[in-house]
Amino acid sequence: MAELNLVLLGPPGSGKGTQGERLNEDLRLPYYATGDILRGAVRDETELGRTAKEYMDRGDLVPDEVIVGVIADRIDSSEALDGFILDGFPRTTPQAEALDAKLSELGRGVTAVLLIDVSDDEVVRRLGGRRTCEENGHVFHVEFEPPKQEGVCDIDGSPLIIRDDDKPDVIRKRLATYHEKTEPLVAYYEAKGVLERVDGAREPGEVTDELRGILAAVGS
Ligand code: AP5
Repeated sequence: MAELNLVLLGPPGSGKGTQGERLNEDLRLPYYATGDILRGAVRDETELGRTAKEYMDRGDLVPDEVIVGVIADRIDSSEALDGFILDGFPRTTPQAEALDAKLSELGRGVTAVLLIDVSDDEVVRRLGGRRTCEENGHVFHVEFEPPKQEGVCDIDGSPLIIRDDDKPDVIRKRLATYHEKTEPLVAYYEAKGVLERVDGAREPGEVTDELRGILAAVGS
């Protein structure tokens, strides 16, 4: 199979993490979710975590120069030679340009950008009910994807928590940040002919099936 360098794009709560986990199981490619990486760094109280926390808690993006190096190192690692799945990166035009520059240095390019489209109202509904596994970031929803046992992750048994940035005022700020800084990437990738748009306002399984169909076409 040809190398698959994939980007998951979409507003907060569109289902990037939900779909990313499923594609990761299907494709067995390294899955780099910048939100999970940063939350891990905050938990471990590393320098990266200390820098990132204040931005994350108020729904802002961490500075480009902080996050670009984190992803560039991973893409340049031997585990990513057959491809990767990026979730939450790039999120600004400078980040997209840095990704292009890194990939072109390696003689590679983005294979497909999978845009999961949902409305702002749906985002608010979803994030209000999200429960996240404290240890590994697996996601559930009290109504749409409830765990078998309340408060416990089905996959690894860790406690399920409400993320600090899933509070209503921070959700609104994250949405505003998405529209201002990340949405321009839709046109950026459309112009490069790699954008694939998926209606994310359907059952998670239907979204997965459509993504699988797209990947079967771009990967062949
Ligand atoms: P990050 O963790 O990446 O947050 P996000 O992009 O806001 O995305 P979310 O994780 O909130 O949502 P998701 O799309 O993964 O949806 P999910 O599958 O969980 O980033 C957090 C912060 O880190 C940022 O605000 C920023 O500060 C910083 N950061 C990260 N990357 C950065 C970067 N590159 N540059 C600068 N800063 C960066 O689903 C949501 C809920 O809906 C779940 O409960 C799920 O069960 C449910 N659900 C999913 N799909 C469906 C469906 N089809 N129907 C019904 N419910 C569904």
